[in-house]
Amino acid sequence: MMVFSTPDDMRHASAEWRAAGEQLCLVPTMGAIHDGHLALVTAAKKAAKRVVVSIYVNPTQFAAGEDFDSYPRNFRADQQKIEAAGGVDAIYAPQAMYRDQHATHIVPSGVALPMEGESRPHFFTGVATIVFKLFQHVPADYAVFGEKDFQQLAVLRQMVGDLNLPISLIGHPTVRETDGLALSSRNHYLSAEQRAIAPLLYQTLGKSAAEILAGGDIQQSLDEAKSHLLAGGFTKIDYLDLRDATNLAPSLTAKADDRLFVAAWLGETRLIDNCAIGSHPARSR
Ligand code: PAF
Repeated sequence: MMVFSTPDDMRHASAEWRAAGEQLCLVPTMGAIHDGHLALVTAAKKAAKRVVVSIYVNPTQFAAGEDFDSYPRNFRADQQKIEAAGGVDAIYAPQAMYRDQHATHIVPSGVALPMEGESRPHFFTGVATIVFKLFQHVPADYAVFGEKDFQQLAVLRQMVGDLNLPISLIGHPTVRETDGLALSSRNHYLSAEQRAIAPLLYQTLGKSAAEILAGGDIQQSLDEAKSHLLAGGFTKIDYLDLRDATNLAPSLTAKADDRLFVAAWLGETRLIDNCAIGSHPARSR
């Protein structure tokens, strides 16, 4: 696998592939590669002949006091995991993505405003800006993003549409542990005790999905789900909402593809998850 660390080298390789008529798919990551990322790589290989994984812990999507400094960084281990899964054409691991005088940001509105937009107001500006820059460095035909960050994917689809970016985004279903916990680099932060509580997040989404699909009162179900999480050991809930899958507006009458979205804390660790109410395995129990 080639490793590129500068925009010029990355663009040069991409241009050669494109000149040979080969399509290119980008898998943007912040490293700490796990099986969820490897599933994105597999999807990328189906989409295009050439695959690039980018690894960059983007400072602008972390607010002061968040986990930028402690975010797991181990390039060798990441490289080995990608290699062991069959490798990709290149890893793009830029050293720095912002020059000292950087002063231009993409500030998404619309689907970026609720949920993560309220809890972490800096977040989507950081994500949109870095992903836009990555798309300039890796001029790909496709990029794959996990649906664990469903709102992020919606924000990026909105950006691609609004700014006419010549790239197609592919969403990949969330990869889960056998107990239902969505794979996330942040799961490493959990103590053994917190890890045992964490699957309650997806279980609770399932309980709510089943109630809502059965015609139960949406607000009552969401309120009960929050109480259930707090009683089960979660320490704080940022949001637990039922929303339309396309415009992320609150759903007042449930449809099967509406999604439940949750962000909740276990001590110092913030976990997010989401699912379509019609697709949770608990919906028909
Ligand atoms: O989902 C992530 O890991 C990040 O938000 C992304 C898309 C790589 C941008 O830094």
